[in-house]
Amino acid sequence: MIEARELCKNFKDKKRGVVKAVDHVSFSCKAGEVYGLLGPNGAGKTTTLRILSTALKPTSGTAIINGTDVTVDSQKVRSQIGFLSGNTGLYGRLTAREMVAYFGNLYGMEKQTIRRRTDELFTLLDM
Ligand SMILES: Nc1ncnc2c1ncn2[C@@H]1O[C@H](COP(=O)(O)OP(=O)(O)O)[C@@H](O)[C@H]1O
Ligand SMILES: [Mg+2]
Repeated sequence: MIEARELCKNFKDKKRGVVKAVDHVSFSCKAGEVYGLLGPNGAGKTTTLRILSTALKPTSGTAIINGTDVTVDSQKVRSQIGFLSGNTGLYGRLTAREMVAYFGNLYGMEKQTIRRRTDELFTLLDM
């Protein structure tokens, strides 16, 4: 489902010169698995996630998400993932239903489908 292949990311930093934020990282995560990426501050975890979610391009190496190469078809990858990082906020002015509808729209879902799925999920989750 998620496969990192020899991912590398170098940043050019004014003070530190070239920073090897991610240095040949490979791992794979199967469908249904929960995968933990552990490491001290600055180890490159966030940079790796940004590459997997196509927010950043790798310097070299690549990742395959559900069969699609992030460096070949980033749009297709984006249409199939949800990415919520620790500091991604919710929109304070949207209600819960508006929030879900907003993201449903971004993913190209039909209005009726959004309404039906929202009802199902909100019932299931007692929201
Ligand atoms: N945009 C950037 N420009 C320069 N250096 C960066 C940038 N983003 C991250 N880094 C550096 O890359 C390294 C890895 O950072 P990061 O991926 O945030 O680590 P972690 O999430 O594991 O704490 C750190 O040395 C960090 O300072
Ligand atoms: Mg981090």
